[in-house]
Amino acid sequence: MLMDELRVLLTHKQIQDRVGEIAAQLDRDFAGQSVIFIGVLKGATIFLSDLARRVQLDATFDFIGVASYGKQKQSSGEVRLTKDVEQPLTGANIILVEDILDTGLTMNYLRNMLLTHQPRCLKIAALLDKACRRQIPIQADYVGFTIPDEFVVGYGMDHAERYRNLPDIRVLPPELI
Ligand code: PRP
Repeated sequence: MLMDELRVLLTHKQIQDRVGEIAAQLDRDFAGQSVIFIGVLKGATIFLSDLARRVQLDATFDFIGVASYGKQKQSSGEVRLTKDVEQPLTGANIILVEDILDTGLTMNYLRNMLLTHQPRCLKIAALLDKACRRQIPIQADYVGFTIPDEFVVGYGMDHAERYRNLPDIRVLPPELI
């Protein structure tokens, strides 16, 4: 199946409009302050790069890497760090940036780990929220779109590393998963 035959869930325009709204909210919430955007590799890279360019705050950004143990992430809940951040976080305003919040296991792990650095505050920005899939009661402070339980690709999100470069968010049909 060709990429442009996959059903579009969210167009690039819809995404950009919503990213602009979230950026405006961040500008209001952190007016006069500095923030550190921390993107979770790899899916969040596109969202982070768009969001960081829309805010008018004094901002830096960094990246953090996580992996599941084997393929057991959803059942075991075990997540491990593959790349740590490089900036000091004590006293910082952290905006943890994710492409998608699914079971919540990754975000729960990262939030607990980052809080050990004693930041001034830690907020979560998730472009997509598959709220119906949550296993751990964790919510993002800034959510782009709440979506149904479908396999989405594009705008940073992959299937076997493909499709991350699509400008829209599209649905991969079950027969291709
Ligand atoms: C995705 C996404 C989140 C995580 C969310 O990452 O980017 O990090 O899954 O799932 P959870 O809420 O169930 O923990 P993925 O493992 O696909 O890696 P990638 O970002 O490199 O594509």
